[in-house]
Amino acid sequence: MCGIIGIVGTRDVAARLVDGLRRMEYRGYDSAGVCTAHDGELLRRRAEGKLNNLVEELASNPAPGETGIAHTRWATHGAPTQKNAHPHATPAVALVHNGIIENFKELRDELRADGRTFESDTDTEVVVHLISRWIEEGMSPEEAVQTVLPRLRGAFALAIAFRDHPDMLIGARLGSPLVVGHGEGEMFLGSDALALAPLTQEISYLEEGDWVTITRDGAAIRDADGNEVEREVRTSGASAAAIEKGDYRHFMQKEIFEQPTVVAQTLRSYLRPGEQRVALPQMDFDITAINRITLVACGTSYYAGLVAKYWFEQFARVPVDIDFASEFRYREPILPEGGLALFISQSGETADTLAALRHCREQGQTIAAVVNVPTSSMAREADLLLPTHAGPEIGVASTKAFTCQLAVLAALAAHFAVKKGLMDREEEAEVVEHLLEAPACLNAALDHDEEIKEMAHLIAPARDVLYLGRGADFPLALEGALKLKEISYIHAEGYASGEMKHGPIALIDDKVPVITLAPSGPLFEKTVSNMQEVQARGGQVVLISDRKGIEAAGEGCMATIEMPKVHPLIAPLVYAVPVQLLAYHVAVAKGTDVDQPRNLAKSVTVE
Ligand code: F6R
Repeated sequence: MCGIIGIVGTRDVAARLVDGLRRMEYRGYDSAGVCTAHDGELLRRRAEGKLNNLVEELASNPAPGETGIAHTRWATHGAPTQKNAHPHATPAVALVHNGIIENFKELRDELRADGRTFESDTDTEVVVHLISRWIEEGMSPEEAVQTVLPRLRGAFALAIAFRDHPDMLIGARLGSPLVVGHGEGEMFLGSDALALAPLTQEISYLEEGDWVTITRDGAAIRDADGNEVEREVRTSGASAAAIEKGDYRHFMQKEIFEQPTVVAQTLRSYLRPGEQRVALPQMDFDITAINRITLVACGTSYYAGLVAKYWFEQFARVPVDIDFASEFRYREPILPEGGLALFISQSGETADTLAALRHCREQGQTIAAVVNVPTSSMAREADLLLPTHAGPEIGVASTKAFTCQLAVLAALAAHFAVKKGLMDREEEAEVVEHLLEAPACLNAALDHDEEIKEMAHLIAPARDVLYLGRGADFPLALEGALKLKEISYIHAEGYASGEMKHGPIALIDDKVPVITLAPSGPLFEKTVSNMQEVQARGGQVVLISDRKGIEAAGEGCMATIEMPKVHPLIAPLVYAVPVQLLAYHVAVAKGTDVDQPRNLAKSVTVE
């Protein structure tokens, strides 16, 4: 998603702005730009494609100036071309924007009727014209911004530079995150603390509707009504080192291999191993009164939720309604009075999930959130925050956040079961023991990296791939298919293995690899029969199972991937590893851009 950085500095800022954009590359983008205020002019440089193109542009056409704004754009309105790249500008005002201005057509018509011409196809350009119009009328930058903000519908984070005020920037947020960084005689704006990590650790988070003027002397923050407000300055702890690849070739690969460590780290917060107990944070609501959970998320986080639905229903006998966040509000869900709504998100900023969270709050639900970014909007707006401790996830394809979400959700489901009197001490101890086995089993699964890499060459030429799974491993089949789609661009679908004969089996021929997730356990036999139905029709099967499973059913498979023997509870965590590694190695074999796959953004802050 778009990345924003702004600096009011004491020396030329263009290089540092580009450096800041580099730290936001992981968010996904398709063009980039910089604008500095210098010598009575706004100097704007933009380029389509990767940041190196902008660097080249700046080399041949430098942009001196001690104040500037910069942006990586993930196209929403208008193709990813140079003319649509941000900053957008008039001679007097330049701005960068993350989000969507929903009423831009009506504003553009109004501005056109006023004689203004537009050079881009973006929604953003209307904002720069609206502000410019008031500046031309004699308003100060603050007056102009305060007049324009209430006219914008949608979601935005903005950073705005002014030709005639080269020592200040204005930032504003509604729906999209923006932070203020406090430096030594310098001030910053950024999409997140990570973007500002090498510049400053002292961060203030703007709240919904806030806007801020930064100068070298500090920040004046105002709320939507224009009242000056204080926003706490916190030390972010975001480290620039966290966004280094180390010895790995890609962030995704690094993050896959971090899983044993980060899952163990996450489990430490939710289990008391010595006493063999689950240990969730204090909850200000009566769990025994919760008779339904509303679960909402997107993408990979949604699949973690789908696994958790099995656990909540199996252990705690609480029914779970689960929705894609983008669908949730529009089906006019019936929410139980005083119910619990649970949101899952790596970034904590996904626009659809955040909107669903706010909807549930308005409906009087208690809000719980499993979130990886502790300073995110969802983390701050939840009544009950259940953090995953995966650390910054930079690869666009979510990996370690997923397994950490599963770790938290398993502990939460067990906690519900204990509180409802449905899990006795002995059963609780068993659950804790199995969860504590997860990091070692993840390590054992990672040991099969080389074998999966070899096998990836069998999958790479395929046009279509099917993933099959049953029970709590069915969502993993969906996740496996999503991973393949997003980074290797192979069309893939996940199916509940029992559903094959109700239609999808018609797709089977010897060109469609069918990857079957079948850990030993109560569902093994049934899953394998479905797999054999595929084989009987000439399907080429890859079986992912443990030794016992492979011995029982591996014959006749195109390939097998051996996993450690695991308890069914942790199978979705452990089997996530081959699914991720397979997608990773197929993508590498195909030469795609693993960490920044085409068309995708890390944190989707538009609905
Ligand atoms: C897939 C992926 C996406 C995200 C989805 C939700 O690998 O990363 O599907 O899972 O965009 O993002 P969060 O979890 O940040 O709300």
